[in-house]
Amino acid sequence: MEVSETIESVRNMVRAAGRQGRKIGLVPTMGALHVGHISLIEAAVKDCDFVVVSIFVNPTQFGPDEDLDNYPRPFEADLEICRKAGVDVVFAPAPQQMYPAENLSWVTVEKLTEPLCGRGRPVHFRGVTTVCTKLFNIVAPDVAYFGQKDAQQAIVVRRMVADLNMSLEIVVCPTVRESNGLAVSSRNQYLSEQQKQDATNIYKSLQTCRRMIDAGVSESRQIIAEMRKMLQQVPSIEIEYVSIVDAETLESVDKIAGTVLVAVAVKIGSARLIDNILVDAGT
Ligand code: PAF
Repeated sequence: MEVSETIESVRNMVRAAGRQGRKIGLVPTMGALHVGHISLIEAAVKDCDFVVVSIFVNPTQFGPDEDLDNYPRPFEADLEICRKAGVDVVFAPAPQQMYPAENLSWVTVEKLTEPLCGRGRPVHFRGVTTVCTKLFNIVAPDVAYFGQKDAQQAIVVRRMVADLNMSLEIVVCPTVRESNGLAVSSRNQYLSEQQKQDATNIYKSLQTCRRMIDAGVSESRQIIAEMRKMLQQVPSIEIEYVSIVDAETLESVDKIAGTVLVAVAVKIGSARLIDNILVDAGT
C-alpha cells in the first residue's frame, strides 16, 4: 500500500492504474476509521481494481465552534486498517496541500442543504461539496463510496454529481450499528460508557417511528412527538432535530406516504450525533 501526501503523486498513481484499464474506487474519509468505514472500503475493494482512501480532516466543513481541533487523528491505526483491508493508496494531504491559499471557489448545492443538519451547521455542506469536488478532480474515481448514516451528505453529493455532470458513480452503503443499535461514528469516541448507553435511545426512537408507520400512523406530528418523548427520557440528550422528510427532496412531510427519511440529530455531552432510517410507507 502506498501513502501519498501530494496531489501530484496520487494523480500519477491513479493515472497509471487507469492506463492499465483498472476501475478506480475512492472512499473519502476524515480518518478515525471504524467498522463503518471498513464496510465502505470492503465494498470498494470488491467492486473496483484500484482503491484510494482519502484521509483528510477537512477544515472548511467545520463551523467556528465545532470540533475541528479535537477531531480524532489516529493516523498509524488508520493506515493499518487500510493495509489490512486491501487498499492500494491512502491519500493523506496536509491542509496546505488541499487549501494552499485563501479559498475563493466553492461548490454549493441549494435547497437540499438547507433543512436537517444544514440548519444548525450553515457552512458544513459547502465545505463537504467543495472538498468532495476537489477529491473527485484529484483522484478521478469511477466510483465513490459514502455511508447512509450521513444520509443528507449522500443525497447532496449525489445531486451535485448529477447536476454538474461529474463522471463517477456514487454508491451509498448501509449504516453499521453496534449490537445495541448505536450507529457507529468517529464521534462516539467522545462518549463515556454511560453516554454510549444513553445514545442507544436514538435508534430506539427511530424504531418507534418505524413501528408506528408500520401500524398505519401517517401523521408526522404524532410520530415526532412520540420520538421526542422517547429521547427526552434521557436527560443527557439535547435534541437538535427530529424530522420526517421526503427521501429525495428532503422537504418535511406532514402526511407520510412513499419513502421517507426519518432523521435525528442530538447532542450528548460534547458529541453531536446523527442517525436516520429510510421507511417505505407504501402509497
Ligand atoms: O463523511 C465524511 O467523513 C466527510 O464529510 C467527507 C465525505 C470525507 C468529506 O470531508
